[in-house]
Amino acid sequence: MGNVFGGHVLDEIDRVAYIAASRHARTSCVTASFDRVDFLSPIHVGDVVDFDAELTYVGTSSMEVWVRVRAEPSHGGDARPVGEAFVTMVAVDADGRPVPVAPLVLESVEERARFEEGRRRMEERRRTRHSRPP
Ligand SMILES: CC(C)(COP(=O)(O)OP(=O)(O)OC[C@H]1O[C@@H](n2cnc3c(N)ncnc32)[C@H](O)[C@@H]1OP(=O)(O)O)[C@@H](O)C(=O)NCCC(=O)NCCS
Repeated sequence: MGNVFGGHVLDEIDRVAYIAASRHARTSCVTASFDRVDFLSPIHVGDVVDFDAELTYVGTSSMEVWVRVRAEPSHGGDARPVGEAFVTMVAVDADGRPVPVAPLVLESVEERARFEEGRRRMEERRRTRHSRPP
């Protein structure tokens, strides 16, 4: 259909989330989880795609990264939102064990609100992770 494969977009989301998290952590990170990802509209082959990543919540070793994806026709035209995801990255040492990271510096009211929302999502992830059937 001339659209970009969804799995390819997920791959790129994972990469930009890794870059944002490892810049903050100043060490390697692993992807711990992907929240629900909605593809809001198709990306056409040839579109210019923009990935924007922001840390919304930081725990001890985990970081929630909000990735927003926008696309626009390569010959001009409006950029449109095509998807977003919350990715949890965990900072690890050389043996793959979680290591603490610096706290997130929150400068605006919006950042503080997003941090609180992120904290709630992280608690929900923890709750559902531990309540899964064996
Ligand atoms: C992510 C990983 C390092 C966590 O290790 P662990 O021994 O379970 O460590 P802990 O239980 O102490 O959790 C460490 C942190 O990760 C978070 N975490 C662990 N599993 C998680 C999950 N599935 N989703 C979100 N956060 C998770 C914990 O909440 C904790 O956060 P905090 O330090 O901010 O409190 C480990 O599960 C792992 O290596 N997973 C594979 C990662 C990977 O290979 N990804 C690529 C897939 S191909």
